[in-house]
Amino acid sequence: MSENNSNQPSRPGPKMYDIIILGASGFTGKYVLREALKFLNAPNSHLKSLALAGRSPSRLTYALKWAAGPNPPPKIPHLTADTSDPNSLSRLAAQAKIILNCVGPFRLYGQPVVSACVDSGCDYLDICGEPDFMERMEALYHKKAVEKGSLVISACGFDSVPAEIGLLHHSKQWAGPSAPNRVDAYLSLESDKKIVGNFGTYESAVLGVANAHELMELRKSKPKPARPAIPGPPPPKGSIIDHHNQLGLWALKLPSADSTVVRRTLSTLTENPHGLPGANETPENLKNREAFWSSVKPAYFGVKLGSKSLLGLFPAIMLGIFIGLLCKFAIGRWLLLKFPSFFSLGWFRKNGPTEVEVASATFKMSFVGHGFSDADMALKGNNKKPDVELITRVMGPEIGYAATPVILIQCALVVLASRGDLPRGGVLTPGIVFGPTDLQERLQANGISFDFVSKSTI
Ligand SMILES: NC(=O)c1ccc[n+]([C@@H]2O[C@H](COP(=O)([O-])OP(=O)(O)OC[C@H]3O[C@@H](n4cnc5c(N)ncnc54)[C@H](OP(=O)(O)O)[C@@H]3O)[C@@H](O)[C@H]2O)c1
Repeated sequence: MSENNSNQPSRPGPKMYDIIILGASGFTGKYVLREALKFLNAPNSHLKSLALAGRSPSRLTYALKWAAGPNPPPKIPHLTADTSDPNSLSRLAAQAKIILNCVGPFRLYGQPVVSACVDSGCDYLDICGEPDFMERMEALYHKKAVEKGSLVISACGFDSVPAEIGLLHHSKQWAGPSAPNRVDAYLSLESDKKIVGNFGTYESAVLGVANAHELMELRKSKPKPARPAIPGPPPPKGSIIDHHNQLGLWALKLPSADSTVVRRTLSTLTENPHGLPGANETPENLKNREAFWSSVKPAYFGVKLGSKSLLGLFPAIMLGIFIGLLCKFAIGRWLLLKFPSFFSLGWFRKNGPTEVEVASATFKMSFVGHGFSDADMALKGNNKKPDVELITRVMGPEIGYAATPVILIQCALVVLASRGDLPRGGVLTPGIVFGPTDLQERLQANGISFDFVSKSTI
């Protein structure tokens, strides 16, 4: 079923769809669609109406058939939209409460979608893991999004919800006068098959590194973000590779989007110590929100890729070297994008992982916090060496096409169920918006666990 092929922009009208998935025909998009179908008109679900959007109705039809299988595909409208056609995006935004954007690389295709959503006051969530896109959208659209009542929340996938909600969960385990100074998230990916990512993620990473200077320039042009008060001095840089005995992992420091997203969350929290008020929140929500944020203890945060053997880090090191060297030259970028399997030592493929490979993989993110048994003493400078190590863990299914769809759909369901409790609008991080909601419980109910592991004196 194809609709909306006229070139005229539509006038704002009643929202016909709770959710429109843009890019539902993509590798990740079709898994997002499969996850959404589980909740469409399910008992107690706020998802009552869904539409798919993309450039090609036939590819959307194919994705719907795949996502619904082995059941026959339900009747779901297909809307034609192309990010190079602003009118097509305005029509989508006029009809949807929320647009879920799965069209990437976001640095190439994301801005017109954000712009259309902000103009029409529609909410926007995506699965972006590109710091430059997220920070550029914040600089360009935050003020207008607040005025228009449009929530724009990037990184609602594996990047960066496990890190954001995982760090908030970790922070709450530091009871009484104790507080963390630094938390390192050790990410390990496990499977008895091959661990593979789709080309879309690889392309986004290559383009991100190739244009890293743009992010530096953007950051220089903005006022410095507010810094949270963290007990103790900034941790030393440390080595690029280390070994954690209790976890039994070798670990490589990752230049992860997660750290930049967490930093933005903590900066917003520093400016708004009780979080952001809901658009139309109940007194009960206000009380819960203030109680939630007052128990969060900020920390320096970094991400490391973990592996049981030193050799297991080899593909990541080689990929980093290849991308670092070749990204600087046009021919190098062409080679990287032409031969993803070769340069990533098989980690990324043009046609992505098989369904069996997706189903076989899991992730573990261990949050190792070092901090103080008495944070007041540390703030006064009396006790500068962390004396406590606290470990928590987030675990779940394969990151890109199993965990990411679960996370994106649960974020969208929170928005549908509790819109009045969430900020009126703005370009915001998942942590600051979803931290005080029931997102963590929803993720737990859908296969992503949050656990306390241990606390010890060091
Ligand atoms: N946060 C995370 O953890 C996470 C996980 C997975 C993926 N991602 C990100 O998600 C993005 C997509 O990855 P993918 O592997 O799914 O890529 P993909 O398979 O190439 O899918 C791209 C989608 O975008 C659509 N598209 C491309 N250009 C378009 C345009 N001009 N107008 C409208 N639609 C357009 C494609 O539609 P057609 O069918 O018409 O070509 C397709 O549906 C990447 O940026 C990736 O990094 C993030």
